[in-house]
Amino acid sequence: METVPETGEPETEGPAAGEGETPDPGWETGEGEAREPEAAEGEDGEAEAGKPKKETGEAPAGSEAELEQAEDSEADQEDPWPLKLVFASDLHLLADSLHDGGEAYREKLAADDGKVTPYSSQILKALLQEAADLDADAVILHGDLTYNGEWESHLALAEILREARERLGLRILILPGNHDINNPDAAWFCGSETGAARSVTPEEFEEIYREFGYEEAGSRDETSLSYMWKLNEAASLMLLDTNIYEPVNRVNGEIEPETYEWMIQQLDLADAQGVQVLPAGHHNLLQESRLYTWDCVIESRQSAIWLFGEHQLPLYISGHLHASRTRRNKTAPGMPDDAYGIWEAVTGSVSMAPCTYLLLTWEEDGTMDLSFRETDVAAWAARNGETDPNLLDFRNFSVNWYYEVIQNQVLKKTRAMVPEEYAEEMARTYADVLYHYCAGSPLPPSEVRQSEGYRLWQRFAPEERWTSYLDQILKDYSY
Ligand SMILES: [Fe+2]
Repeated sequence: METVPETGEPETEGPAAGEGETPDPGWETGEGEAREPEAAEGEDGEAEAGKPKKETGEAPAGSEAELEQAEDSEADQEDPWPLKLVFASDLHLLADSLHDGGEAYREKLAADDGKVTPYSSQILKALLQEAADLDADAVILHGDLTYNGEWESHLALAEILREARERLGLRILILPGNHDINNPDAAWFCGSETGAARSVTPEEFEEIYREFGYEEAGSRDETSLSYMWKLNEAASLMLLDTNIYEPVNRVNGEIEPETYEWMIQQLDLADAQGVQVLPAGHHNLLQESRLYTWDCVIESRQSAIWLFGEHQLPLYISGHLHASRTRRNKTAPGMPDDAYGIWEAVTGSVSMAPCTYLLLTWEEDGTMDLSFRETDVAAWAARNGETDPNLLDFRNFSVNWYYEVIQNQVLKKTRAMVPEEYAEEMARTYADVLYHYCAGSPLPPSEVRQSEGYRLWQRFAPEERWTSYLDQILKDYSY
């Protein structure tokens, strides 16, 4: 999703989480048990999840075979703990074959949300090299792999992944995001022209990426592109396709009732076998933003929260927001810190400065350590003999790219309102606040509110929606 209001208008249905929120469609468990009531969500917190509590019991009849890993899986390891997993989302790779760097392409990127799209393939290669250097057990790209679901972008990405797997020996797993399938916005850019490009169907998506998860999945959901992945004898990933793409794709997320049934089977079986499960998807489980209140979450998220709670799962990982953050669900107001409440870790767009990914270290006792890291593209470039100065100084280049894109968008508005000097200060403040929001390194709201730029917004544009967005982002900082 977009994070710049001017180019990707946020749909704000309510001023804050919980307020005016429509209950999700009623989904019930197989036993006819209604889902638990709406949970109150709590504050951000430490980036460490608690231990999952596992129960033992009989495996549901007929489901054991579904969880069996394919025989040629390489998941069995001599030293299976701790597991090191790299999660990255929202790469939005656009194949070079779909543009010529011309006017239409440049205009598209100038109206975008600050992703360094011309270098997305290099960012990915640097990420994969970094994951190999970390000796990661798996790299999980959890959605929005492509710019807008272009068939050629998917093929280009799969080729990079294939090369990295063979050269670096990496295990790479993928999931679709809301941009990746049946996307009518798939386009090519040539000179000043733009035109429709071929997107992919769900079947084509699975075929393109069959060697990156689907072929060796422990179990495949029949009604979505969700699957289980066995990491070792006692740990599995539940990789959830949270997207809506029939007949065409939509921004917001959902999990279908049939997929919930599959999830129940898998989680019951995992409990019976003493296997820890970590779920991940593209859309958010918790209401992560005051600014984007509906198009980021799984519509039936309360059902998912309830189900994960039934199995005491400690953590869910998502993307989509293009902002890095962690948040914990509170099941009741004022609940004690040591009470159960699932954590959510949201990975920002890896194609947006500072190119963040999530490194998760998973211990045998269920402890999970999370750290958001910046992909060191410059180090990768130097190591590979790249000569492009932008790559060799990529952090500065990508941050400057971000600020320029956002500031130029804001300036179109502020220049019409105030003298140039003020307009630039307002644009700088807006970009600064948004950058730190997306990077997961929020500025102190009190300092922002005392800044010259913020005061100019309040003074010259108190009724402007951008001023309102600015305030909502600041509130999101501590949300
Ligand atoms: Fe995205």
